[in-house]
Amino acid sequence: MMDVALVPSQVAKYNLTKKIAVVIDVLRFSTSVSAAFQAGAEAFYPVEDPSQAFALKKEDPNLLLAGERRALKIPGFDFGNSPLEHLQEDHRGKRIVFCTTNGTRAVHLGAKAKKVVLASIRTARAVAQFLKAEGQEVLFIPAGTGGRFSLEDIWCAGQILSHLPGPSFGDGARAAQAIFEAISLSELENSEHARNLVRLGFQNDLSYCLKKDADSNVVLWDSKSGWGRLA
Ligand code: MLT
Repeated sequence: MMDVALVPSQVAKYNLTKKIAVVIDVLRFSTSVSAAFQAGAEAFYPVEDPSQAFALKKEDPNLLLAGERRALKIPGFDFGNSPLEHLQEDHRGKRIVFCTTNGTRAVHLGAKAKKVVLASIRTARAVAQFLKAEGQEVLFIPAGTGGRFSLEDIWCAGQILSHLPGPSFGDGARAAQAIFEAISLSELENSEHARNLVRLGFQNDLSYCLKKDADSNVVLWDSKSGWGRLA
């Protein structure tokens, strides 16, 4: 079965051990991780709390730290959570610790799954191809906003599902499919988090994050090592 946890708290209701988890945080965590890989990064490590990121950097000063609180760069970090910041860099050989409010938490919610994949509107088609080739049960884990439903993440789940065979869809997947069909890409600019990003001056991030199928990279996270890499 393919299903979508409409809010993060629903994930606990699923047995993930035989499933692939697809973690989606369109604005902006999963898009930023993909951008870091576009810039040549070797690996990323998601943590839930900035203190974990600082502790890791103390052990290995070569690590870069990226992330946000209230969408703004965490003081002492190398980067905020803007994908555009990474694109300006040459990250070849670099490993990056990410800490964001909802996205890195959502990755850890998928920890018990057989595989954990990151997805965004830019990578949706590539992720759908990956899922088709894997042929396994899937749970989509939209990161949400503060534990609440997030329109752009559910829409992206529907976007990926539009490439996959329908008979195996659970009710959450059907709801995501209906949202994808009913709402246009440009309407996502009015989602709560999108409006917040514009208010904070991140309009260019929004335009970048809302480009359909622009990237072909698929990012996988390994819960055992804690590191994520390109598939
Ligand atoms: C998050 O993980 O909550 C976000 O990606 C927030 C953001 O920086 O846009």
